[in-house]
Amino acid sequence: MKSIILIGYMGSGKTTVGKQLAAALGRTFYDLDWYIETRYHSTVAQIFAEKGEEGFRQIEKSMLHEVAEFEDIVLSCGGGTPCFFDNMDYINSVGESVYLKATPQVLAEHLRMRKVERPLIKGKSEEELLEYIQTSLKQREPYYLKAEHIIDVTLLDNYDKLQTSVHLIREELGL
Ligand code: S3P
Repeated sequence: MKSIILIGYMGSGKTTVGKQLAAALGRTFYDLDWYIETRYHSTVAQIFAEKGEEGFRQIEKSMLHEVAEFEDIVLSCGGGTPCFFDNMDYINSVGESVYLKATPQVLAEHLRMRKVERPLIKGKSEEELLEYIQTSLKQREPYYLKAEHIIDVTLLDNYDKLQTSVHLIREELGL
């Protein structure tokens, strides 16, 4: 069976949903950022600080190829993964891709408390964060929209967001 690969902007819930989806399907879960951190004995923030974004993107690409070798997994990518090199075409060639789509407002709300560990948004005020998301989502969405499946998580009620997202993905994939 093909692996399921979750993509989407930071704060769209890729890791939380991916973990739960993997548990529901009895598959192994991988998060690309965590995989990189384990392999490099370093946090994503440290890699950005030491090697710059360009260095991080090179590592991210090679780790994507490494982890994609594993079979039948659920993989959550980083928000930028599909938007560099030929990563999105590669993702589509090795797995079944699912884009977790949300509005900038919802993403900003999710990211408000989780800015520190993300080098691209660290230190931004609330207004700067929303503005940054609006601009970069516009640049990134053409890549995200190449996904085979799109799940809109914007309107899901916070209360049962996780379960509903997992349910919608399973329904969409026929699993
Ligand atoms: C990034 C998203 C992060 C991480 C890095 C860069 C991005 O992953 O890979 O900070 O470019 O959007 P999450 O989407 O899991 O936060």
